Amino acid sequence: MRMYDIIETKKRNGVLSDAEIKFAIGGFVDGQIPDYQMAALLMAIWFNGMDAREITTLTTAMAHSGDMIDLSAIDGKKIDKHSTGGVGDKTTLIVAPIVAACGGKVAKMSGRGLGHTGGTVDKLESIPGYRTVLTRQEFFDTVNKCGLSLIGQSGNLAPADKKLYALRDVTATVDSIPLIASSIMSKKLAAGNDCILLDVKTGSGAFMKTLDAAIELAKTMVAIGEGAGRRTVALITDMDTPLGFNIGNALEVVESMEVLKGRGADDLTAVSLELAANMLYLADKGSLEDCRRLAKRAIADGTAFETFCAMVKAQGGDDSVLRDYDKFPKAPRKREVRAVADGFIAKTNAEAIGKTAVILGAGRETKESSIDCTAGLVMHKKLGDTVKAGDSLATLYAANDALLDSAQICYSAAVAISAVKPVTPPLIYARVTLNQIDRFRF
Ligand code: URA
Repeated sequence: MRMYDIIETKKRNGVLSDAEIKFAIGGFVDGQIPDYQMAALLMAIWFNGMDAREITTLTTAMAHSGDMIDLSAIDGKKIDKHSTGGVGDKTTLIVAPIVAACGGKVAKMSGRGLGHTGGTVDKLESIPGYRTVLTRQEFFDTVNKCGLSLIGQSGNLAPADKKLYALRDVTATVDSIPLIASSIMSKKLAAGNDCILLDVKTGSGAFMKTLDAAIELAKTMVAIGEGAGRRTVALITDMDTPLGFNIGNALEVVESMEVLKGRGADDLTAVSLELAANMLYLADKGSLEDCRRLAKRAIADGTAFETFCAMVKAQGGDDSVLRDYDKFPKAPRKREVRAVADGFIAKTNAEAIGKTAVILGAGRETKESSIDCTAGLVMHKKLGDTVKAGDSLATLYAANDALLDSAQICYSAAVAISAVKPVTPPLIYARVTLNQIDRFRF
């Protein structure tokens, strides 16, 4: 078998056999197939796509390129969650303890932020002492004891994806549904959970800019998960505007704790409850309605918050910061971005606001960049709010004034004020299961 022929077949819109896909992935991971040949194949896939069988074979080959984690040492149904990435998307910090407080098991490996999107591991590391690297036994013990553990991705989880993603990133082949779906689902299958809830974002801050593309990606990923024997559901949620008010690592932990204490932002609370209810549904905790009630009760009675604190303590973190936010380290400099006119907030571009957070030091331009856990921003005006000239639109936090100067320009361009009240988008557009797509405005 020759990589040249495999590229030629896909270039001519042919269908690759299982053996050809396994040959390409195996050879690429062990260094027999050079980057330039894999880059050519990726571009051919970008143009010509793959059918369902090809995507499943690709995903399985990528999953099996490293460790396939066995979670059987953890009692009960293990439910994973994955977001395709967003700005201010701190829902994992909220839904994981809700699900654990209701009897589900969340053994979750999360990623770091890259570009304008944040990552759960960076947020967790803003909690003093919190360890995101545990031995496998510590990970299992924490889930058995607390109902959840949130850690970083193990080094050898789907190494094919790591290599392929790096190549896609520099060959303009990231935005391809077969490649995104296989990338995400290979890691989910390798992580060993029984059920998977996918949060597929759509809008200016998401990979999938349109609802139709987001639904197509969701359908592809749900089919892969179900085909591999994992119950899988996807919600399509909005990422045209950031979720909640706070963007930046420690700031997002604080905002998540406010939701767990029952006084969080409405949009963030609503999306988190729906995600948690769907995870509980996948874990057979009742009908969706029952699961919504369970999730709300876990917030109202404080068990979700206490569950999160217990996990933080079990992983070496100082949970007192979650009760007294003044104990979090603070950014030395802050600045208000003020409205220049009266009117309505007509645009809060999620991607540009995410970039503002990166400029402030809260995110990474490249994988190697370091982040400042105190940096970020708090929005005071969201889409559709009324403003008067001079009102604060947002407070920016950073290490120095030069960062604030650049971030202020970026934030100002991300927000538009208009005399006309805009139509605000729904928070959740659709729910996708193997056999059904329910579209709604939630
Ligand atoms: N997230 C991933 O893990 N992979 C992609 O290709 C895109 C988003």
